[in-house]
Amino acid sequence: MSANDDFLKIRSVDHVEFWVGNARQASFYYTHAFGFTVTGYSGLETKIRDRASYLLQQGKIRFVLTAPLGPDGPIAEHVNRHGDGVRDIALEVEDVDRAYRETTKRGARGVQEPTTISDDHGSIRRAAIATYGDTIHSFIDRTNYRGPFLPGFQPTGQRPAEGPLLYVDHMVGNVALGDMNRYVAYYRDVMGFTQFQHFDDKDISTEYSALMSKVMADGSGKVKFPINEPADGKRKSQIEEYLDYYRGAGVQHVALATSDIISTVARLRESGVPFISVPYSYYEVLEDRVGKIDEDKAALAKLGILVDRDEEGYLLQLFTKPVQDRPTVFYEVIERKGSRGFGKGNFKALFEAIEREQALRGNL
Ligand code: FE2
Repeated sequence: MSANDDFLKIRSVDHVEFWVGNARQASFYYTHAFGFTVTGYSGLETKIRDRASYLLQQGKIRFVLTAPLGPDGPIAEHVNRHGDGVRDIALEVEDVDRAYRETTKRGARGVQEPTTISDDHGSIRRAAIATYGDTIHSFIDRTNYRGPFLPGFQPTGQRPAEGPLLYVDHMVGNVALGDMNRYVAYYRDVMGFTQFQHFDDKDISTEYSALMSKVMADGSGKVKFPINEPADGKRKSQIEEYLDYYRGAGVQHVALATSDIISTVARLRESGVPFISVPYSYYEVLEDRVGKIDEDKAALAKLGILVDRDEEGYLLQLFTKPVQDRPTVFYEVIERKGSRGFGKGNFKALFEAIEREQALRGNL
């Protein structure tokens, strides 16, 4: 058996859990701005005493927003230190015990030993290991569970939205300078992932900031985790800014896939989702850079959608501004037209746009 034997057998990203200061208000933002539906709830009314959690769904995407109900404990401490952010990138796996055993044997720090959690709808098996910063990966097996989500959650009666956002395409982690290769090795050796694509600081740099990024993917190639670290620039890079305000490593952005980015971004903009602004000059050279594409260039320019091409095809993408006061977590909307990349050619354009925002905050 090779070192990269796919012992995890990840079925999918099960859900992403955010620990936030006010989950009720955050869920309002995700429903009204991003088109999610609150389909489940757990809290005082469901006999959970220390936290309130809202399950939001759209397409295959499941987000859980959890807030503490008091000043003590891991959730309150996490929010105090990091602000709102991603706590758990939960993975649905075939065999939780094996996933936990194999990853901890290979050096992962265990956070929760394999546990069975039950309610009237059946039971799930769950365990968790630590990854970068205070972020964890839960392993979940829901084969024997018939309830709407997880034990303890009560359905709200709302049907999951058939929104324009379909599934989590990738999730990017920011780690400290010098730690990227450590986490690349972690995903390779501990999780059995392989390196998907590689950039270096020459690929992704502007006058002021630079980053290095490597993409790790699971055995199926469906779950992709790029890892960024800052590289030297004249001024503070956006990765450093994130690390300063998040107080350490954490999830930088979650990319959500759509099959029609023009109508999706139009709808999200209409609902008030704040996207980064892209200079019009970007579109003047677009065709020279990416060749012929199906979409109307004027529509892309109007909505500020970015395009990148590689040998396999092209992709369209756009990034939101951070969705909380700290300049930390943001979102990407992505539509793939053959390309399996991450928009390397857009990094320069993206960075220039991000740096204009950073300068406005006095952090460049
Ligand atoms: Fe991305």
